[in-house]
Amino acid sequence: MHAVGIVAAAGSGLRLGADLPKALVPLAGRPLVAWSVDALRAGGVAEIVVAVPAGQRGAFAAALPADVRLVDGGASRTASVRAGLAAASAAADVVLVHDAARPLTPPDLVRRVLAALAAGHRAVVPALPVVDTTVVVDEAGVVSDAPPRASLRRVQTPQGFDRAVLASAYAGLDPDADLTDDAAVVRAAGVPVATVVGDERAAKVTVRHDLDLAEAQVAR
Ligand code: CTP
Ligand code: MG
Repeated sequence: MHAVGIVAAAGSGLRLGADLPKALVPLAGRPLVAWSVDALRAGGVAEIVVAVPAGQRGAFAAALPADVRLVDGGASRTASVRAGLAAASAAADVVLVHDAARPLTPPDLVRRVLAALAAGHRAVVPALPVVDTTVVVDEAGVVSDAPPRASLRRVQTPQGFDRAVLASAYAGLDPDADLTDDAAVVRAAGVPVATVVGDERAAKVTVRHDLDLAEAQVAR
């Protein structure tokens, strides 16, 4: 099985509020994107394409191994992954799409996703139980529904796909579509999405507190 990794790193990180793109923000002295690329590599993904913010190629090239391919990302995560997918080698039979913002993803999680693809699933996401009661609110912030928690899951990356399935799902997607993950893209094309057990350590760095937690995790 030839796997290619696509790392979405073209966001600006508004909620983190750093003075450089989030993927370049250091964790224990190394940019988040370097950690995320290492996680894919350690889990068995050799070929990697990283979608970077426009005008940032030099900074990303300096932060990453020379054999990582860089492409310009887009205005949305969906557009960035679409650009990465276009640059991925056609020789790959599976694709793992990963957020640069999940630096401490354990290699075992990457291997679980690859194993589910090898077992024949065409789309696979890591998922974890929801521990808080989760509600739906109306425009006024009043709770209108509280779905039963037992069937809810939090979805992480890397998400794995048969390359041809993901490429055809992106080809059929509205060019302006902005979905929060890639499983949503293949689901829109009617492809079933399987789950494997996620890992809390693959948490996404979104706000400052997440970075503090990641620093503590590295220190341990
Ligand atoms: N991403 C991307 N291209 C975009 C937007 C996001 O490649 N146009 C990537 C981010 O770099 C990140 C991942 O998608 O690794 C998850 O997105 P998120 O955590 O929302 O990161 P940002 O969009 O950078 O952060 P914010 O929404 O706070 O601005
Ligand atoms: Mg974002």
